[in-house]
Amino acid sequence: MVVKIEVDLLVQNATVVTAAHVHPAQDIAVKDGKILLLGQNLASILAATNVIDAQGAYVTPGGVDSHVHLDQDSSIEVASTGDNFETGTRSAIAGGTTTVICFAMQTRADTSLFPVVADYHRRSTGQAYCDYGFHIILTNPTPAIMTGELPAMMADGISSVKLYMTYDPLKLGDKEMLDVMMATRSLGMTTMVHAENADMIAWIGERLMEKNLNSPFYHSISRPQIAEDEATYRAIAISELVDTPILLVHMSSPTAVSHVRQAQTRLLPIHAETCPHYLFLTSAALRAPHPVTDPFEGAKHICSPPLRASRADLDGMWRGLANGSVTTFSSDHATSQYDHPCGKKRGLADPSDVTSQPDYRQVPNGLPGVETRMSTLWEGGVLTGRLTPQKFVEVTSTNPAKLYGLGNTKGAIAPGYDADLVIWYPTAEQVAAADGTSVSMTPFSLTNAHLHHAIDYTPFEGMRFTNWPRYTILRGSVIWDRDGGGIVGAKGDGKFLRRGKSTLSKPRGEAAEWDKPENLVA
Ligand code: URP
Ligand code: ZN
Ligand code: ZN
Repeated sequence: MVVKIEVDLLVQNATVVTAAHVHPAQDIAVKDGKILLLGQNLASILAATNVIDAQGAYVTPGGVDSHVHLDQDSSIEVASTGDNFETGTRSAIAGGTTTVICFAMQTRADTSLFPVVADYHRRSTGQAYCDYGFHIILTNPTPAIMTGELPAMMADGISSVKLYMTYDPLKLGDKEMLDVMMATRSLGMTTMVHAENADMIAWIGERLMEKNLNSPFYHSISRPQIAEDEATYRAIAISELVDTPILLVHMSSPTAVSHVRQAQTRLLPIHAETCPHYLFLTSAALRAPHPVTDPFEGAKHICSPPLRASRADLDGMWRGLANGSVTTFSSDHATSQYDHPCGKKRGLADPSDVTSQPDYRQVPNGLPGVETRMSTLWEGGVLTGRLTPQKFVEVTSTNPAKLYGLGNTKGAIAPGYDADLVIWYPTAEQVAAADGTSVSMTPFSLTNAHLHHAIDYTPFEGMRFTNWPRYTILRGSVIWDRDGGGIVGAKGDGKFLRRGKSTLSKPRGEAAEWDKPENLVA
């Protein structure tokens, strides 16, 4: 008699995708939340409590969205009207994301990071449907914080910071960035940079205001690509001077990406992130689609950097993803209600009157996208042949896990990894290969009602989808079952992730001229 090993879950007949390979006809066995083994015909040696037939469909690692703003005050004075941990992570799992890394923001008035992090734990504990970690936004990097507190953050599993080069309440000068990067280098923290030239943006804005050009569209005019290009180049130079790895977040400009690529060619540890909206949408969306009934509606698409003007720009970003210049693909889910006086309509003199005087500078920046991130890239990237399935996995899951210190538990389908999985619907070819025993998804056009966030619009309204995550599995438990109840996980399933050092990026270890002992003698 064969004694079978007991497992909790067996996913059968999967086309397993990793960042390296596509493996057809695989079974995945899960025990105690971890992947135990992969192989063929595992039912002959395993007894499973639960079995899911993937019907030949692609199975990818659970998405790791490393740029998500949840329950973050939209500016120093105004509380967010956007998603909190409950609604944002609910939306994440319905779109195939099992890990989000969110931002605990230090305001200039915060002289210590400890209360900031404690507050963010309060906002998130017991609230999340998926696993989560924190980055720290540093806006007041005092010596006491850099020497006394960042090491403690690192020890507590918060192994990344974000720096802003723009937004008056957040931005750091070049000297402050150098100081921070020296500290993050010695600690092995990952440093994210929002790169836009603040003075260029303010200067253009003043001229637009003189001409009364203040409707949402002018937000994109005020933040031209050259502002991103210059700041990206400067951030790379600052990073090179102190030999600190950085990731340029939410890149929208192909020229800025070419700066990253040139740095990578010189073997500098420079990484880039882009987001769905920079691949699919142009700044035409900032013009009012219904000018008579709602001349302000373009505000729904205000984000920074802004959507770019031409399809050629979007093509440039697709190329950056395909050729490896872009390391991670994140949502930058940064939400505000549209129809709310503290949401996007804060940019109206009278928020109850869409014909009143607009001021794009008062509109909270950012778009929803945590639920649509995976499917937009699958549809527009993999199904069109622009990206391989392996590249999809690399940028949506494997690379963000490695870059942010989760590379040993998340982002791969391999024994010992957390059993975080996305089972897609079988494609037409996979259905045909299965002799009609499986069915593909009925295509649909997206409306906001399909989504699980708490926001009153989606920038991807009307986009057509022929596939979508059918099941999302978090540490071996089904938490999203599209045809069997939708959200089947619970608030509180998600746990805080203590992250370590990046396994993707490290300093080059070559001293700069200013740091060479022989150059430092009197
Ligand atoms: O417009 C954006 N991206 N808002 C969110 C904040 C940020 O800079 O990521
Ligand atoms: Zn940013
Ligand atoms: Zn952001």
